Amino acid sequence: MDFSVKSGNPEKQRTACLVLGVYESRRLTPAAEQFDSACGGYLGNLLRRGDLDGKPGQSLLLFNPPGAACERVLLIGCGRERELDDRRFRKIAAHVAAELNDAAASDAALYLTELAVKGRDLDWKIRQLVAAVEDARYLFDRLKSKKDAPRRLLRKIILSVPGRRELPGGERAAREAQAIAAGVALAKDLGNLPPNICTPAYLAEQAQQLAGEFSAIQAHVMEEAEMEQLGMGALLSVTRGSAQPAKLIRLDYRQGPATAKPYVLVGKGVTFDTGGISLKPGEGMDEMKFDMCGAASVLGTFRACAELRLPLNVVGLIPAVENMPGGRASRPGDIVTSLSGQTVEILNTDAEGRLILCDALTYAERDEPAAVIDIATLTGACIIALGRHPHGLFSNHPPLAHELQNAGHAACDRVWELPLWDDYQEGLDSNFADMANISGNRDGGAIMGACFLSRFAKKFHWAHLDIAGTAWKTGKAKGATGRPVPLLTQYLLDRAAEKGKS
Ligand code: BES
Ligand code: MN
Ligand code: ZN
Repeated sequence: MDFSVKSGNPEKQRTACLVLGVYESRRLTPAAEQFDSACGGYLGNLLRRGDLDGKPGQSLLLFNPPGAACERVLLIGCGRERELDDRRFRKIAAHVAAELNDAAASDAALYLTELAVKGRDLDWKIRQLVAAVEDARYLFDRLKSKKDAPRRLLRKIILSVPGRRELPGGERAAREAQAIAAGVALAKDLGNLPPNICTPAYLAEQAQQLAGEFSAIQAHVMEEAEMEQLGMGALLSVTRGSAQPAKLIRLDYRQGPATAKPYVLVGKGVTFDTGGISLKPGEGMDEMKFDMCGAASVLGTFRACAELRLPLNVVGLIPAVENMPGGRASRPGDIVTSLSGQTVEILNTDAEGRLILCDALTYAERDEPAAVIDIATLTGACIIALGRHPHGLFSNHPPLAHELQNAGHAACDRVWELPLWDDYQEGLDSNFADMANISGNRDGGAIMGACFLSRFAKKFHWAHLDIAGTAWKTGKAKGATGRPVPLLTQYLLDRAAEKGKS
């Protein structure tokens, strides 16, 4: 989609579809008011006749308004002005995007940037509108033999800003939102692909393709033989039952000063999680194709960073494996030696994410990171604890947790912190190894997973995002969300801005 930012009067916009807001009850927004007086009270008359109330969810498409330069006007109900908050605005944006998708207009001019949203500025509104349009346009039909998607004509969107002074900022906001949307779309595609196509080798190819597309990105793929040599016994134990070879994918984005420490993103890349010998129940098991959404979010974030040319150093590490119950699969009771030297008793082969991540975390030490963030669909328990709105956040460094909370708020891709107290650690005691990979009961499962990982993250500032509840939607709208690409990209944008200031 082609987005541009403009200032100017609504009645003078030459566009196929002008989008204006109406507050409840029947009150025109300032831009709609201005348009109305230029059109001889056309809108006011309609409202008085009761065609639109202004309630959220309402809309009205009008053709050939008299005395205006546009072909159509789409009126959107915005609800009560003083109730207009983040959530309401995002709903309005999604509604407009859906209406425009279905309309026959090839371009549109949106004046919804004028709505006053509590605690949010113009930049935020522009970003939300761009994100909503891109989200509504996303379609995954490459594996349908008959493409019955409706013909979509919309090509160009103009976002209004109050004056010329706001143009540069508005353009930057639109550009950032488009880069994030491109990263989100990549993460969605990878997540939605079936597990017979999206294998560890496929993820490795995708990394290489990304590196081919952007000269700022390099990709390296480590094979099992080298992992063996290094001593990644925990990671390798997970792949044993599978016919698909494991890959440890490394992405390098180096656009910061050579001496600047990198931010390291570690993404869980289990391309299918059967549970292994601790086999999962059959119902809904197809959704375990999404168990690589952490990996997908790392690739998506790299795409966004490259499009934005962020002046930072970022490293991506993706342990990619398939968790299958083959003849060589690890058994409950097996003890393996991790890259860190610590031994792990595998009491449940379904707690595999932590086994691949722990070796990737130890491997990250070599990069002397500024911070390490791992992203993983780690525990069903995280969904029980938090539901499906925020990502679970754990960290060994409170300032890092704050930065992620702030980035999540800014990008509307929020996190919620859970405790990582030492009190929990003894739950992982094993009679036979340095630790077990699960605790003896079901208490605080998301926390126990994070506690396990924390033992491999002692040498750097680290945060863990449990995205089990947020990486995909279940039910009728089943599909990957592309989260937390907006959060991660915002976090890196904030780090780049911070460096720019100092
Ligand atoms: N990939 C799953 C976690 C998961 C389950 C995410 C359902 C989203 C929906 C993970 O590998 C797993 O199986 N975790 C176990 C851990 C348990 C054995 C301690 C779980 O959550 O049941
Ligand atoms: Mn599992
Ligand atoms: Zn898993």
